[in-house]
Amino acid sequence: MSEATIAAKEPAVLELEAGTYYWCSCGKSANQPFCDGSHKGTTFTPEVIEITEKKTVALCQCKQTKNPPFCDGSHNNL
Ligand code: FES
Repeated sequence: MSEATIAAKEPAVLELEAGTYYWCSCGKSANQPFCDGSHKGTTFTPEVIEITEKKTVALCQCKQTKNPPFCDGSHNNL
């Protein structure tokens, strides 16, 4: 299994409106933390995030989280 690219060693803390989002799992997107299609040709696929009501989330950007798409503090070990 190939390794994800570390996009940043900190989460993206965002206030998201209700809706569907696609979290980048490969780390190659230029639109972090969201997928921009750059995973094409890799084994990675984006993770669908369903937000039912406006809320603040911390989305993983190091791509090493054990709880995708959310930050679990794994960036502290990089
Ligand atoms: Fe990374 Fe799509 S660009 S999962």
